[in-house]
Amino acid sequence: MHIIAQLPSGQGIEQGGWRWPGADKAAFINEDVYVKGAQLAEKGKLDGFFLTDSPGIYVDMTKMPPHHSLDPLMLTALMAKATEHIGLITTMSTSLHEPYNIARAMRSLDLMSKGRAGWNVVTTGAAPVLLNYYPEILNHDEKHARSTEVWEAVLKLWGSWHKDALKLDVETGLFADSSLIQPINYKGKYVTTRGPINMPPSQQGMPVIFTAGGGNYGYEFATTKADAMYSNPPTLEYAIAFWKSMAASIRQAGRNPDQFTVFNGIGVSIASSEKEALERRAALDELGDPKSRWQYLGYMLNIPTSGIDPDKPIPAELLKRAYPSPSDQRSQYAYDLVKKGFTVREVLAHGPINYHPIFLGTPESIADKFQQWFEAGVGNGFSVVPDSGLDSLTDFVEQVVPILQKRGLLRTAYIGSTLREHLGLPYQNGLPEQKVIATSAK
Ligand SMILES: Cc1cc2nc3c(=O)[nH]c(=O)nc-3n(C[C@H](O)[C@H](O)[C@H](O)COP(=O)(O)O)c2cc1C
Repeated sequence: MHIIAQLPSGQGIEQGGWRWPGADKAAFINEDVYVKGAQLAEKGKLDGFFLTDSPGIYVDMTKMPPHHSLDPLMLTALMAKATEHIGLITTMSTSLHEPYNIARAMRSLDLMSKGRAGWNVVTTGAAPVLLNYYPEILNHDEKHARSTEVWEAVLKLWGSWHKDALKLDVETGLFADSSLIQPINYKGKYVTTRGPINMPPSQQGMPVIFTAGGGNYGYEFATTKADAMYSNPPTLEYAIAFWKSMAASIRQAGRNPDQFTVFNGIGVSIASSEKEALERRAALDELGDPKSRWQYLGYMLNIPTSGIDPDKPIPAELLKRAYPSPSDQRSQYAYDLVKKGFTVREVLAHGPINYHPIFLGTPESIADKFQQWFEAGVGNGFSVVPDSGLDSLTDFVEQVVPILQKRGLLRTAYIGSTLREHLGLPYQNGLPEQKVIATSAK
């Protein structure tokens, strides 16, 4: 089992997390919170710490922090100095950056972390983010065509400095073999870069290629070009079917699905009993925007929610009219919970409308859930999002991880030193077919 950890906005998955007792209210701009998060993930011998990124504001600022604020590259640079083993995966959108910027920044992180970097390749869908960079929203097909070019140019730039080029020969005075550091002269329709890159490969060659995206283009990119994917499955059934389809497509592309990990995003809420975990989640919900959640639940069940009492089950006459919405796959779970007679608050505390499925309860029962999903075949990986920031990540690392380790599902010590080694990937520098051509004899 492979696990990476996330701390969205420095506070966790819940909208009202910044109001949680004891939480740093301004964690979203506190770099120490993120660095501590990476150190905690390393304490748990996890594979990596993961930072998504969409630079812009598209939430109601009266209620919550922006999803992304501090520059994740700068955060990972701090993390690199504060940790020794944990992988550091950060997002750089192919729509928002030039290939040379990405190649240089990610290689810097890879060298500074001694081979622990991962590049999360995204195309960015959010209009408020794209409009920070362009006068208007990009044409969808062109955005993806550009993305493929950026990916190709970045990998070629990385491969433009051969791993044997650096000589550092004090005796002869040969610093580097320049025949092994060559321009790539990349000229695409959307991006152009001459190269070569201005520094050597790291211990793992180049960063691990992650991706996170929906739609046909995202799927095609993941199965033909990436090593790992951050996915957001609405249900276990979806996650199983998704990995089955991914594995077949990866094989079809002539690649090995054993060398690919899907990191399924999972929220965790840990307590000493299931009842307590539900109470904890209900209290967190209350700090967010409970009314909009009740409304969304009504949408999922096709019933009006104005005037309902959140502390009571849905009235019987309304329940008769309810049915799960086919447009949201999580609706069936919400419907099942309502049918069991939980109150509206309790139904929502189970997490049927959260961005990620929620594993809640005791450390033991949460470990059971991870094992159940893992054994059901969901692509071997999880991206864990705590419910209320560092305290909840601490509970995960100190209480759930040891159980998974005891069951032989998670490593108890790092064996390799690079992120590629953590994920069972071979050394790679540049595109597989790329060779630096020696043009000058030494
Ligand atoms: C699970 C998941 C995570 C994503 N994370 C990011 C992110 O961190 N930054 C970003 O700019 N876009 C992110 N995206 C958006 C994708 O890059 C992509 O734009 C989106 O899936 C819409 O596809 P489109 O670009 O084809 O319209 C994410 C998408 C998904 C499904």
